Amino acid sequence: MDYEDKIEEKLRRREYKLEKEQRYLRKRSELDEVLEEVFDRVTLMTIYELMNDGVIEDLYGVISTGKESRIYYARNKQGEELAVKIYLVTSAEFKRNRLGYVVDDPRFKRIPGDFRKFINLWAQRELKNLEEAYNAGVKVPKPYFVRRNVLGMQFLGVDGSRYPLLHEVEEDMDFNELYGKTLSVVADLYQKAGMVHGDLSQFNVMVTDGPEVYLIDLAQAVGIKHPMAEALLIHGLETLTRFFAKKGVDVEDLDTLMMFVKGGAE
Ligand SMILES: Nc1ncnc2c1ncn2[C@@H]1O[C@H](COP(=O)(O)OP(=O)(O)O)[C@@H](O)[C@H]1O
Ligand SMILES: [Mg+2]
Repeated sequence: MDYEDKIEEKLRRREYKLEKEQRYLRKRSELDEVLEEVFDRVTLMTIYELMNDGVIEDLYGVISTGKESRIYYARNKQGEELAVKIYLVTSAEFKRNRLGYVVDDPRFKRIPGDFRKFINLWAQRELKNLEEAYNAGVKVPKPYFVRRNVLGMQFLGVDGSRYPLLHEVEEDMDFNELYGKTLSVVADLYQKAGMVHGDLSQFNVMVTDGPEVYLIDLAQAVGIKHPMAEALLIHGLETLTRFFAKKGVDVEDLDTLMMFVKGGAE
């Protein structure tokens, strides 16, 4: 039996059980209908499993609709606010972009279950990266759970509305302060967690009312020993430098930034 069959069988058993318990027959909400338009069967069942287990108590509206994932605002049983990131299994964009370099790999062509596994791996990787960073005291959303392609983390925002991304911050904010704080978090990620954010930009930094700066979207983060780490760090710092320079910040040169991020060790 391949992966897909196993999941199917598991789902059939689960559905049967749910039906018996009359729970699956509850009146479907509008949200359920919307979910069903967007997600494949296995993903839907994963969401329902998480809801039945109380890992997700309520799933509210969508926060973000990306090409590769959708993020929902949710709450767990304890009433804590969550951001639930659901990686899309059915997105053609995902296959083109993120799969790009493996799409010709026969392993991924022959067995569709492998594509699902591949997506699950991204979700798992993001959770693991969040855990490592969070446990090291780096400002990232607190990780809660991952099941297949569904990841739960701390919601960054107030009363259901998320904080702005760095890229969305009002023009009257102190960008010098944000520059310093952003670099500090990048340095923390490097020095405390031994990691480099694989996709660092003004679109993956969130700014709280403090303002405090949080890094999000860590699926592509790598350890500092990874062969791509240096290149990813340079690319990220260059991207941030361009952003802050446009905002009128007197930015440092790349060498200085690299020294700062690495803690002057190299
Ligand atoms: N923990 C979170 N709390 C609140 N909003 C979030 C959180 N994580 C992500 N978001 C929102 O969802 C968007 C997409 O999330 P991200 O992890 O960057 O995925 P991707 O860029 O792959 O679509 C972010 O730009 C942000 O607006
Ligand atoms: Mg992002």
